[in-house]
Amino acid sequence: MKRVYNFNAGPSPMPLEVLEGLKEDLTDFRQTGMGITEISHRSKEFQVMLDETKALVHHLTGLDDSYKVVFVQGGGTMQFIMTAMNFLHCKGAYADTGVWTTKAMKNASYYGTVYEASSSKDKQYSYIPKTVKVEAGTDYLYLCANNTIYGTEYQAFPRVEVPMIADMSSNMLSRTYDFTKFDLVWAGVQKNLGAAGTALVIVKESLLERARTDIPEFFRYETYVKSDSTYNTPPVFSIYTVNRTLQWLEKLGGLTAMEALNRKKAAEIYAVIDGSEGFYRGHAVKEDRSRMNVTFTLETPELEAEFVEQAKAHGFIGLKGHRLVGGLRASLYNAVTLEAAEALAMFMKEFQNNH
Ligand SMILES: Cc1ncc(COP(=O)(O)O)c(C=O)c1O
Repeated sequence: MKRVYNFNAGPSPMPLEVLEGLKEDLTDFRQTGMGITEISHRSKEFQVMLDETKALVHHLTGLDDSYKVVFVQGGGTMQFIMTAMNFLHCKGAYADTGVWTTKAMKNASYYGTVYEASSSKDKQYSYIPKTVKVEAGTDYLYLCANNTIYGTEYQAFPRVEVPMIADMSSNMLSRTYDFTKFDLVWAGVQKNLGAAGTALVIVKESLLERARTDIPEFFRYETYVKSDSTYNTPPVFSIYTVNRTLQWLEKLGGLTAMEALNRKKAAEIYAVIDGSEGFYRGHAVKEDRSRMNVTFTLETPELEAEFVEQAKAHGFIGLKGHRLVGGLRASLYNAVTLEAAEALAMFMKEFQNNH
């Protein structure tokens, strides 16, 4: 078996140990004589696995039972819609940090008034706005904790009087946070948590009490809480991969250990950028740099294309920047090893020396 160094922005690598473990469970899940994709979502085995997964989320985040953990299909994009559909009564404040918050805001505008509470559009989303303006009568502040495309990440969150909703798709469980600051956090699982097919949503009971009830049951978070994520057939396999990944994360030492490792990985690449005398140009301002998505450019698009091509020939995959902004991007999600980051750093230095 030859595995490449995978820096894809999502779907992205899963821990090898987790992937190896899937093999047996695909044919015989926990001595049921059935694979994980063949068991009933109403079975005891599924329920036990789901309960374990929710308990792992609580344990890793430190959140108590006043926060409910549910799994919702439709990925991140569904959450753009559901957050507004459920909680937008009058006005929603959006911290504009790029494509993903813009999409959330656009979707929310179908359900009520939305406005920008802050924006970093003036500098191509290269920084995180430090202040937000929340108007009276606002239902919630919505933000994106890590901006996958631009490589910016909140290091501290604004303090506001209204409920805070965060898209943590690309940095969920990659670092320690005081999760109690949030009323709802969600993440499409395909980057840090497992195989695509579901979004992990953690929602505070007190926010649920404020939710709209004049929307179809299927779109109500309350429905997912009450039915324990099995209102209809849930994405069993995707949830199962989250279970395995969180077990891996727990064994590694939880969020403190994960954060330390992620810091080291990111430091490897940023050190090359900073030491390159302008050969590599980081997109994000230093203080707001993401530990998950390192974005940078080279002098010309031709040189960037050559970088991507040579990287591929050396076994480094997924380094092309997002199609909307171009440039280069190395995604260093939880399952990317320190060895992979070190190897990429070495390759980057060699590429510079050769040019
Ligand atoms: C921060 C963030 N939010 C939302 C999304 C959209 O997720 P999905 O493709 O699951 O709809 C993405 C996708 O990459 C993302 O990076």
